[in-house]
Amino acid sequence: MSAQEDLAEIIQQLRIELEWAVRTGIDVHFPAPTLEVTEVLRLDVGGDTEVLPVDAGGPAISSTDPSSEAEGKPDDTPPPAFKPDPPESPEPERVHFAPERARQRTEFQADRPWERYIPEEGGEPVVEGRELVVERAEGSGRGLLDTSPNDPRGYSALQSARGLEQVREILGDCERCKLHRAGRTKIVFGVGNPHAELMFVGEGPGRQEDRMGEPFVGDAGQLLTRIIERGMGLERAQVYIANIVKCRPPNNRDPMPDEVEACEPFLKAQIHQIQPKVIIALGKYAAQTLLRSRMPISRLRGKWATYEGIDLMPTFHPAYLLRNPQEKRPVWEDVQSVMKCLKDFKRRR
Ligand code: URA
Ligand code: URA
Repeated sequence: MSAQEDLAEIIQQLRIELEWAVRTGIDVHFPAPTLEVTEVLRLDVGGDTEVLPVDAGGPAISSTDPSSEAEGKPDDTPPPAFKPDPPESPEPERVHFAPERARQRTEFQADRPWERYIPEEGGEPVVEGRELVVERAEGSGRGLLDTSPNDPRGYSALQSARGLEQVREILGDCERCKLHRAGRTKIVFGVGNPHAELMFVGEGPGRQEDRMGEPFVGDAGQLLTRIIERGMGLERAQVYIANIVKCRPPNNRDPMPDEVEACEPFLKAQIHQIQPKVIIALGKYAAQTLLRSRMPISRLRGKWATYEGIDLMPTFHPAYLLRNPQEKRPVWEDVQSVMKCLKDFKRRR
């Protein structure tokens, strides 16, 4: 490469980095000397982004976003204090289902669509033209299909569902783990494009997600949305967003292994339906769970892995970024890596 090409490449790279910083309010500490950055600003940041003030101390990045002006410069203000949720009332008493009751077969009822997958007495339930005979699992209660990998029939019915709606139907009014009686308001199934190329997987719903029934709508969710929209230049509706568990763990504690075991088949079924090109695992919990790893997130992040045969990039959780804004740079690097991967997929098509 000639020196000129080298320079053009550096300028291009800096332009992308700066634009990302401007759009997300995420600060970037350029390795380049201030003088070069000043040149880049003049030459390359045009269009709808402001030319940014640069002083001797390095690039002072301001945002063109009026909402972040109202909030003040995001990186100069201390991050919002992390507020743990107030303690909740103790778990309600455990409900036992009598095995005979759990084993009983229920007739399909229109308001309980998941019961379509449970055989009626002598009948043969059908999933989209294919015959399927599945008995209700003992103890699964309320006519829920046993979708745990220990029941191959139920599990494979879930994995061969036709469309996300059918996965949602089979999930039903889920009581497959104890989270259903740990204060859950709404099941948070997932949201977004059923054909998304990019899927995000978080840990589990928080308080606001539990209320709204949608993942990542609280403070961390707003940061995630900014990263998607202003950082990656995508619409939130273009990607798909889900969590490891679909019900809120009390006091935002980590999901427990039995809860993950009950819920993960549904995440797998979602991934199977969507067939994303890339999955981004958000935070330590999601990354460690999906990758069956105990490595710290600081070592997992930024390195490509796979889950269910799909490329997976672990990165820090947006809630962690709110508390540790200095860690935004690695996230931005991970996001760039994902964008490059998606672009390469497009080019190869
Ligand atoms: N944190 C998560 O991991 N998931 C959500 O949906 C919201 C916050
Ligand atoms: N700790 C977490 O739980 N998640 C992160 O993303 C980073 C640190």
